[in-house]
Amino acid sequence: MEESVTSIEHARASFGRHFLDMEDLNTKELMEVLALSASSSLPRVLEGRGVAVLMAKPSNRTRNSTEMAVVSLGGHPLSMSNDEVGVDTRESAEDIARTLACYHSVIAARVGNHDVLQRMAAALDRASARVSVVNLLSDHSHPCQALADVLTLRDFLGGLEGRSIAYVGDANNVCRSLTAACSMMGMRVRIASPPGYGLGSQEVAHLNGLGGSVEQFHDPQEAVEGVEAIYTDVWISMGQEAEREERLRAFTGFTVDTTLLQHAAEGALVMHCLPAHRGEEITDEVLESPNSKVWVQAANRMRAMRGLLTFLALASNSIE
Ligand code: CP
Ligand code: NVA
Repeated sequence: MEESVTSIEHARASFGRHFLDMEDLNTKELMEVLALSASSSLPRVLEGRGVAVLMAKPSNRTRNSTEMAVVSLGGHPLSMSNDEVGVDTRESAEDIARTLACYHSVIAARVGNHDVLQRMAAALDRASARVSVVNLLSDHSHPCQALADVLTLRDFLGGLEGRSIAYVGDANNVCRSLTAACSMMGMRVRIASPPGYGLGSQEVAHLNGLGGSVEQFHDPQEAVEGVEAIYTDVWISMGQEAEREERLRAFTGFTVDTTLLQHAAEGALVMHCLPAHRGEEITDEVLESPNSKVWVQAANRMRAMRGLLTFLALASNSIE
């Protein structure tokens, strides 16, 4: 007998929970995602299901780790660039999402404006589509990266409650998600950025309320004093290329180099989401030093994505 649309929808009923920002999880749920991420034997929650991987900006780690995570959970990833679908040019974000929901259980997307992800999720919810939207990086946040980062911090530091990390550089999408995740884990986060490139005071107050503590500095040496991990990211994010000269001037003195590293605790971890611009936000020497855990972070992207997708499948079962 031909399968009806209703029964197709039923078969997808275990998705629908979205992950656009770290705060879409509470602390208990973050712990669950980390526990799932650490497991090597996860159920094949994506068996027979599609995952749309929409990339409106370049990607190496995120696309590869997402595709391979989907395959390892029994699903089929289908990657597409924005040239193909044309978000808000060829078709609205809402119509793209509703179309992809006809074939896929998850829409994982890397976009410019964060708002595009929110509109996609809202359109799916209005249509009762039971399809999850996952943020693969927006101008606002990069929560999948932060999951891999706290997994890495836990691998090396053990318990994270009360432990310290300094983020040095642009308080951007990566910084925002990392700070939220670390605060949720009870960590002390110290952010050093030049004036005008930090987080807003209201946002810091919000991040402070997530369980840890968040402080901002303009002096990188003060921020890294005695910390157990130093994190940095590019000064010029995708889409900010026109600001290159201005940013290079503003961030002078914020390079993570051996002199700065000496102010941190002995054996402090050095972290970077990659891609790195060696010689700008971090020196070659520090990136290649024994302190550097950047390749572990990259590898952990796939573990974290497996954990997240499994969590979304299981958690979505309880959505009304
Ligand atoms: N860290 C990260 O998101 O890398 P890609 O931009 O290569 O996906
Ligand atoms: N902040 C960077 C992260 C790249 C993974 C960007 O948005 O380009």
